[in-house]
Amino acid sequence: MESQQRLLALVILVLGNGTFLFVGAVPAAQEATSSLHPVVLVPGNTCGQLDARLTDEYEPSTTPPGCGIQKQGRGWFRLWENFTALQEDPALSSCYADELRLVYDPVAGDYRNLPGVKTRVVSFGTTRSFRFDDPARKNVCMERLVEALEEIGYTQGANLFGAPYDFRYAPAAPGLASGVFSEFMSSFRLLVERASERNGNKPVIVVTHSLGGLFTMVSLDRSPLPWRRRYIKHFVMLCLGVGGSPLNMWPLAASNVGSPSSLLGSVLTYGNRSFASMFSLLPSPKVYGSRPLVITRANNYSADNMAEFLAAAGFSDDEVARYRTRALPVTLNLRAPLVPMTSINGVGVPTVDKLVFWDGNFSVKPQLVYGDGDGQINLETVLALESLIGDDPDQRYFKSILIPNTTHKGMISDEFALKRVVSEILGAN
Ligand SMILES: *[C@@H]1O[C@H](CO)[C@@H](O)[C@H](O)[C@H]1NC(C)=O
Ligand SMILES: *[C@@H]1O[C@H](CO)[C@@H](O)[C@H](O)[C@H]1NC(C)=O
Ligand SMILES: *[C@@H]1O[C@H](CO)[C@@H](O)[C@H](O)[C@H]1NC(C)=O
Ligand SMILES: *[C@@H]1O[C@H](CO)[C@@H](O)[C@H](O)[C@H]1NC(C)=O
Ligand SMILES: *[C@@H]1O[C@H](CO)[C@@H](O)[C@H](O)[C@H]1NC(C)=O
Repeated sequence: MESQQRLLALVILVLGNGTFLFVGAVPAAQEATSSLHPVVLVPGNTCGQLDARLTDEYEPSTTPPGCGIQKQGRGWFRLWENFTALQEDPALSSCYADELRLVYDPVAGDYRNLPGVKTRVVSFGTTRSFRFDDPARKNVCMERLVEALEEIGYTQGANLFGAPYDFRYAPAAPGLASGVFSEFMSSFRLLVERASERNGNKPVIVVTHSLGGLFTMVSLDRSPLPWRRRYIKHFVMLCLGVGGSPLNMWPLAASNVGSPSSLLGSVLTYGNRSFASMFSLLPSPKVYGSRPLVITRANNYSADNMAEFLAAAGFSDDEVARYRTRALPVTLNLRAPLVPMTSINGVGVPTVDKLVFWDGNFSVKPQLVYGDGDGQINLETVLALESLIGDDPDQRYFKSILIPNTTHKGMISDEFALKRVVSEILGAN
């Protein structure tokens, strides 16, 4: 069984080099609509748009004066992200960066927004928010996949839905509070049920990219098995293995990021290292063990001693404890979803495997050592996913597809990869 799956992955890899294989029959677009299973898309990190509203409690902590109610008013505004607004008033960038930060509330045992900052995810249920006005972020959030699905007969709101989420928060170990993620999970389930009901009770195909795959894997794992079997036709997971990625240690390395010059820069350092999600995709001890991932003259840091790396990078004991107790158990407990699953990943793109800060100064640009992957997700974690899911005797159907020369973003924006992804979605139909 296992070797069969591996063989399948291999065959598709070879075919993927220049040609692609259609799995199943491709229905004609016109007659397809009514017979298509509904699709719910869960996009990648930073793809959920957030609106915010300030109250008097908000005390801006950034230097440019004037952030806060006087400048920004009391109404809802687009916090993440409004490139147009930042072009008009670049000073807003540091206001927004400050307002995006999270704090940990030890009494609630959970992360929350800064006092006086209310946020909400824009357009949950739809794919309307999957696009940005920032040219630097063109096509990073499944917008081309939405178009490709529309071309084969999918219709927004009828049989095509979106589940954006607040990417600053993350699933926590079972039993620990993670209010925002729990809300996402219930909204996601309701959306799936509604999508099914609106489509003759047909079960749903869930398609995820990157971090959306983690949110979905955990949501499915925490949903009763009969619910999964009733509502999930197929889970198509793009660009994610198990066990995180050494690349994600980089933005956590330097405590003194100073003031990132753009809002994007700030968000990419996980809100000045305040987001709950920053620990979610750190390399897993199960995959990387004691292999050095961050190398200095004096010390090497591996997944096994991640806590020491975080301490060396300036995280407090409390923060390190949250890595160990909240985030790490989620990574270690990832399990097969027990619904039919296809995983599609890019390979053949140099992907950071190790970071060398030889002088031990985490604020300088490290020397990068590359391995194989899609530029962000390492092939090793994809192979780990293949064993995790493929070796589970209760997982009835699992297929892993590797597409050569395909980047993390290319998977959802390059013509060739998109065709492959769409053909898998049709195949699942
Ligand atoms: C972005 O900012 C501009 C200029 O301030 C504003 O007109 C527009 O409504 C904002 N966009 C969103 C989606 O809030
Ligand atoms: C980021 O956080 C550090 C403390 O962790 C602080 O010293 C620094 O000023 C913050 N930077 C910004 C831009 O808020
Ligand atoms: C760190 O790892 C490298 C290569 O993996 C090894 O050559 C070196 O001796 C190690 N250094 C320390 C301080 O353990
Ligand atoms: C580390 O590198 C940064 C950036 O180049 C520099 O400003 C800082 O002084 C260095 N720290 C040490 C201890 O050398
Ligand atoms: C990948 O892309 C490079 C450069 O575009 C090309 O030379 C190479 O043949 C491609 N490899 C595969 C397996 O498609």
